[in-house]
Amino acid sequence: MALSVVIMAAGKGTRMRSARPKVLHALGGKPLLGHVVATAEALSPDRCIVVTGHGAEAVEAAFAGAQRVFVRQMPQLGTGHAVQQAVPALADDDGITLVLNGDVPLIREATLRTLVDACAGKNLALLTVDLDNPFGYGRIVRTAEAGDADSIGAVQAIVEEKDATPLQRQITEVYTGILAAPTRLLKGWLARLTNDNAQGEFYLTDVVAHAVSDGVEVRTACAKDETEVLGVNSPMQLSDLERRLQRRHADALMEAGVRLADPARFDLRGTLACGMDVEIDVGCVFEGAVRLGDNVRIGPHCVIRDAEIAAGAVIHPFTHIEGATVGAGTLVGPFARLRPGATLGEEVHIGNFVEVKNSTLANGAKANHLAYLGDATVGERVNYGAGSITANYDGANKHRTVIGADVHVGSNCVLVAPVELGAGATIGGGSTITRTVAPGSLAIGRARQVAFENWERPKKKAK
Ligand code: UD1
Ligand code: MG
Repeated sequence: MALSVVIMAAGKGTRMRSARPKVLHALGGKPLLGHVVATAEALSPDRCIVVTGHGAEAVEAAFAGAQRVFVRQMPQLGTGHAVQQAVPALADDDGITLVLNGDVPLIREATLRTLVDACAGKNLALLTVDLDNPFGYGRIVRTAEAGDADSIGAVQAIVEEKDATPLQRQITEVYTGILAAPTRLLKGWLARLTNDNAQGEFYLTDVVAHAVSDGVEVRTACAKDETEVLGVNSPMQLSDLERRLQRRHADALMEAGVRLADPARFDLRGTLACGMDVEIDVGCVFEGAVRLGDNVRIGPHCVIRDAEIAAGAVIHPFTHIEGATVGAGTLVGPFARLRPGATLGEEVHIGNFVEVKNSTLANGAKANHLAYLGDATVGERVNYGAGSITANYDGANKHRTVIGADVHVGSNCVLVAPVELGAGATIGGGSTITRTVAPGSLAIGRARQVAFENWERPKKKAK
């Protein structure tokens, strides 16, 4: 049966107190709407219609995609009005329309499938949840079932907080904002909505009463886990959901054997694939796509983005890695920075305050202290001294430095690129190297030391 998805994302999100449209705020490194769209598209719908309004240009630009249709809702007159805007984009068939909220990001695919099954192309299916504190939510009003305490009555209506009687406000079964309906019937009910209520809005929730009066069965599916139906309306709720999402990630990793020093101090904003016996200390942030091989250890407070770290490598505290590859058994940090294009071989050592960019270091190369390697090719077992840098940029263009195997670069050298140091060469400390160094030779490029004997230091003038 044809499936259409309508995602409501036009609301202002006043309580975020932000210039950014609410659905573009990030959760786990991805916009709220991105989570909803990804889950919706996992259902392989025939069409996915996103209702935009507040910040429409920005939202549409961020989510342009082949299968997606955007419809604008201007002004925003309520959730029913939002779905009305999608009607022209809905197919004229016997399919099902699934309505999702752009600000309920952690809804699970399996739950949506259950809801669509409950609709079955003929019923109105509502996703509900039981909340200890139902304040602010639409309440599910059911008929009283006389005499049978176990059976629950049929759904009669959804009543919004502001329209509810004190008795109705005690109902803890609430509407999550997500429903599935036969497309043809939904269109008819939408056409009958009015804004005769406390907020003067066209409520999508009023379709329930219309379904009941048409004799259509209203079914409910209950979300198992409240996390998946929580909405984001404020920075506080966003941070609460962020921690819940991170806890999900942490639990999944720990179930796979990863040892996290503290799941409450772990952040994944992308994907993390781990081998066996991986250990991750507190305060680390993983972004983009990161892969860690067997026995990798990540020290506290590292930020790692789009990286591949091979078996047995150790990343010491406060290291920043982006777009880099780290070979097996390599040691990096503390306080190291690997920038895009850094490719480290096996058993490489990168120490504190060392920056590597767009450079390849072959097996066993070492740069242990206060150094910069940019646009360089570094051979096996090279020892790159403290304070040495590649001067790779002439103010207009970048040039390469090629360092052969077993080269020893002393401390505080400047290698002015383009330049090549032959295998086994030695560079004296403090040298500025501007010309090719032959293999096996010693190059020194610095002023000679001079001595003035019995040197008298300047003295302070008498006042
Ligand atoms: C809605 C439900 C309520 C439910 C709650 C669950 C209605 C009338 N009420 O209330 O029963 O318990 O969600 O979270 O539907 N939106 C638009 N255009 C508009 C208004 C809203 O696109 O004109 C979008 C918002 O961006 C948001 C979603 O619809 O993504 C829900 O709107 P919101 O104002 O948060 O509805 P609630 O009052 O929370
Ligand atoms: Mg809401």
